[in-house]
Amino acid sequence: MSRIVIIGGTGLIGSKVVRRLNAHGHDAVAASPNSGVNTLTGEGLAEALRGASTVLDVSNSPSFADDDVMAFFTTATENIVVAAKDAGVAHYVALSVVGAQRMTDSGYMRAKVAQERLIASSGIPYSIVHATQFFEFVKSIADTATTGDEVRLPHAQIRPMAADDVATAVARFTAHEPTGSVVEIAGPEQFGLDDLVRTGLEFRGDARTVVADADATYFGEKLTEDLLLPGPGAIIFDTRFGDWLKSNPEQRR
Ligand SMILES: NC(=O)c1ccc[n+]([C@@H]2O[C@H](COP(=O)([O-])OP(=O)(O)OC[C@H]3O[C@@H](n4cnc5c(N)ncnc54)[C@H](OP(=O)(O)O)[C@@H]3O)[C@@H](O)[C@H]2O)c1
Repeated sequence: MSRIVIIGGTGLIGSKVVRRLNAHGHDAVAASPNSGVNTLTGEGLAEALRGASTVLDVSNSPSFADDDVMAFFTTATENIVVAAKDAGVAHYVALSVVGAQRMTDSGYMRAKVAQERLIASSGIPYSIVHATQFFEFVKSIADTATTGDEVRLPHAQIRPMAADDVATAVARFTAHEPTGSVVEIAGPEQFGLDDLVRTGLEFRGDARTVVADADATYFGEKLTEDLLLPGPGAIIFDTRFGDWLKSNPEQRR
């Protein structure tokens, strides 16, 4: 049985993907600083990839500052490509963000696009999955848009999804043949970004007021109405935000 190495396999998505792949009989192992594998320094990377057929990167940068996040995704990806080629890895899978290529004012999205380009030009057969925003990320969106007791966000449309559904999709693509392309995945419902965050905060009993503001930016990007939306070919998953909130009582404070 060939090994699948999940870079960032201890994270939100990574830990779910490791569980799903192993439950389906694969030999999936998490690789991250917690298990002695650091893609930035290269520490432990060659050893981790030895004998692997597939590498999945679902890591994330500890800092979202423009320069830090660009340095993280470019350095890490360059190191993974070198180690993966040395190990004879036959499939490189990565998770990115729906619309990243359109959000050129966002340092985070520019870094994700740089990561994708390095993978696509590496010569290693690849699959790139573009997901919409995770339900689990709604509070972070609110936090980054907060001044005092006010959260200012545009009414741009968003089609968020549950991390469980993201992990299911990513596990499937990881276990599949390389697509050599970008595949989009999304949730079943469309919201205004301000409405989504308002619903999430109300459920948590969070007293902050969400104000619709067309000039407010999202991770440095001024959003147009459909910038965050996937295209017509996206694979749509089932979990609805209201059901997810009810089944995640820890979302209540
Ligand atoms: N949030 C969203 O709505 C959204 C939407 C679409 C796509 N995405 C993408 O989804 C991916 C996964 O996000 P997530 O929320 O699951 O991430 P997360 O929970 O923050 O986990 C980050 C992972 O990265 C690992 N990591 C950090 N520094 C590393 C290094 N130097 N070397 C190797 N691993 C390192 C961490 O390892 P330790 O545990 O050892 O520190 C952890 O396993 C990201 O690439 C993000 O761009 C996110």
